[in-house]
Amino acid sequence: MKSISVLAPATSANVGPGYDIFAMALHEPCDELVISLNDTGKVSIEIEGDTQNIPLDPKDNVAGLAVLELLKRKKIKEGVHIRIVKHMTSGGGLGTTGASASGCIFALDRLLDLKLTDNEKVDLARMGEIASGGSPHADNVAACLLGGFVLVKSYHPIDVLRLEMPDFPVVLAVITKSQRTTRGFITYEIGQEKLKEQMARCSRVIHAIHTKDIEEFGKAFSVDHIAEPVRSAAIPEYKDVKRAVMKAGAYGFQISGGGSSVIAVCDEDLVDDVAAIMEKGFANNDHFVKVIKTRTSNFGVREK
Ligand code: HSE
Repeated sequence: MKSISVLAPATSANVGPGYDIFAMALHEPCDELVISLNDTGKVSIEIEGDTQNIPLDPKDNVAGLAVLELLKRKKIKEGVHIRIVKHMTSGGGLGTTGASASGCIFALDRLLDLKLTDNEKVDLARMGEIASGGSPHADNVAACLLGGFVLVKSYHPIDVLRLEMPDFPVVLAVITKSQRTTRGFITYEIGQEKLKEQMARCSRVIHAIHTKDIEEFGKAFSVDHIAEPVRSAAIPEYKDVKRAVMKAGAYGFQISGGGSSVIAVCDEDLVDDVAAIMEKGFANNDHFVKVIKTRTSNFGVREK
């Protein structure tokens, strides 16, 4: 039996104003996947660790759906077994669904020697996201597959640009959502002033990455008029914790991906203080899981 083990990292999508077009890879946490080929002609899934009621039917599972799409597009008849060793909390905005789908596409490209381009891999992996949020957004899977910072330059067709990400300290408060996705509550009618600011903030994020300027990056990613208003409203402590983290000297604070986790960037010597503010601030939130201290990363999914 041919098989391959991969590590698929967490990602933080949107990076403030870049709804569905920006994402960045993080060093920790990672999920592990073992992908094996067999002669059953079927796709099967097994989850180890914290299974979190993740569906095992391939048509309802992000990894399963991405694999089915690859087998269909490439007319491959072999069976695939997916073993996911779950270390990340699902439904928290850390790209864990994207990580499973990306890990499978990366592994099958190697196992079957398909020589897929980066854009083909992103286009296949994003199909898995339909099982999670109902929409094939490419941001998380692109950052997981390629590492670093990604910009989805085009959705039709998929075309993704990867930028080398400066090494910034990151503190996450992992908070789960009470519903599967909040995408349906987002309004795109933000008005002229906010639209202009949103575009300016997106440009600032890119400029800050090119100039490796953590302060400018933090400022730029702390404002978002599309997803933050809706997603922060579901976190009662959000405004107070954001204010306290920024007052302590962090450069930026924002919802991570689809929420309800939050992400802060700050200097190394402030990481413990920011973590303590988050621990205390979210202590009474029933959906709060833990605080993670990590960093931005230029590594995407890789063989273990
Ligand atoms: N861009 C996506 C969203 C990322 O904001 O819904 C979360 O999957």
